[in-house]
Amino acid sequence: MLVLGIETSCDETGVALYHSERGLLGHTLYSQARLHAAYGGVVPELASRDHIRRVLPLTRGLLEQAGCRLEELTAVAYTEGPGLAGALLVGAAVAHGLAYALGIPALGVHHLEAHLLSPLLSKPAPGFPFLALLVSGGHTQLVRVSGVGTYELLGETVDDAAGEAFDKTAKVLGLGYPGGPALAKLAERGHPGKFTLPRPMMASGDLNFSFSGLKTAVLTIARERTLDEAARADLAAEIEAAIVEVLAAKALAALEETGLAHLVVAGGVGANQSLRSRLSKAACKRGCTVFYPELEFCTDNGAMIAFAAALRLQHSAVSCQLSALSFTVRPRWDLETLAPQPV
Ligand code: KG4
Ligand code: ZN
Repeated sequence: MLVLGIETSCDETGVALYHSERGLLGHTLYSQARLHAAYGGVVPELASRDHIRRVLPLTRGLLEQAGCRLEELTAVAYTEGPGLAGALLVGAAVAHGLAYALGIPALGVHHLEAHLLSPLLSKPAPGFPFLALLVSGGHTQLVRVSGVGTYELLGETVDDAAGEAFDKTAKVLGLGYPGGPALAKLAERGHPGKFTLPRPMMASGDLNFSFSGLKTAVLTIARERTLDEAARADLAAEIEAAIVEVLAAKALAALEETGLAHLVVAGGVGANQSLRSRLSKAACKRGCTVFYPELEFCTDNGAMIAFAAALRLQHSAVSCQLSALSFTVRPRWDLETLAPQPV
C-alpha cells in the first residue's frame, strides 16, 4: 500500500509518501512563515493562495525523489480538518482530483489524530494505550489514546493554546512569526525568575489549561518599563518557564490519574527543548517514558497525514471506496467524534 499524504491546514504545505511495508519513502515541506511574517500571524487568504502555488510542484518533486509514479499510489490522503477552511480546501481538492483521475480512494484525515500518532513513525514507538499531550498553535489537549480512533479528552485549554501563548507573547517582545522558536531561542540567554508571571490554573484540580492571561501579564510588564536586551531575554525565559511548568504539571497529574506509563508529546510546541527536558526528567522519576516525534514531524507535515491514513486503511473498508467528486472539509472537528478503527 502506497499512500500520498497532503497537509494544507494552516501555513505549511507538506507532502509525503508512506509505504505500508517500506515505511516513509520521502516527504517535503514548504513553510509559508516568511510570507506571513510581515503581518505578525497567518493571513488565511494568502495561505490558501500559496498552497495552490506549492502543492503540485512539491508532489511532483517528491514522486521524482522517491522514484515513484502516480500510478503506483493506492490512496491519496489529505487533512480534512480542523484548520483554515480555504487552506484545507486546497489539499482536499487536489487529493480528490488526483484520486478521481487515478481511480483510487481519497481519504480525509483528522489533523490532530495525525499529530497524536506521529510518534509511532519513530523507533521505539509507544504501544497503546498512552497519554498524549497535544500542544500546537491551535490546540492544547491531554488525551487518553487507547487505539487508532479511540480517544478520550481528559483536559484542554479553556482559552488560548500553548503555541498561541508563545506566539502572542513573542509578538509583544517584538520577535518575528512564528514566535515559539524565536522566543525559545531568546530564552536561552535569559534567566527565569527575574520577572514574575502567573502559572495559570496550576491548582485548578482538573486537567484544563488557560494561557490567555499570560499575554496580558507580559503586555503590562512591557508597558510599564523599558526592556533592554538582557531584560527581554529574562522575560522570554520566564514566559517559557511559565508555559512549560504548567504543561508538565498537568501532564504528570494526568499520568497519575490514568495510571498510564507512556506519555506522547505531539504538535509544534513539542519541539521546545525546555519542555522536553522537564517532561523527560519528571516522567523518569515516576517510572514513565516520554515519546516525541522526530523534530521535523513535531510541526505540521505531510508524513503524519500519509502515516495516519495508512494506519486507518490497513484495517478499513475505506480502501474500497473510490474518490467521489463531492467533498467537504471540517474547519472545526472534534477528535472524540472519530470512529475507532475496527480490529
Ligand atoms: O503543530 P503546529 O506546527 O501547527 C498547528 O497545528 O498549530 O504548531 C505550531 C506552533 C506555533 O505556535 C509555534 O510557535 C509553536 O508550535 N512552536 C514552538 C516551537 N516550535 C514551534 N513553541 C515553542 N518552542 C518551539 N521550539
Ligand atoms: Zn498541527
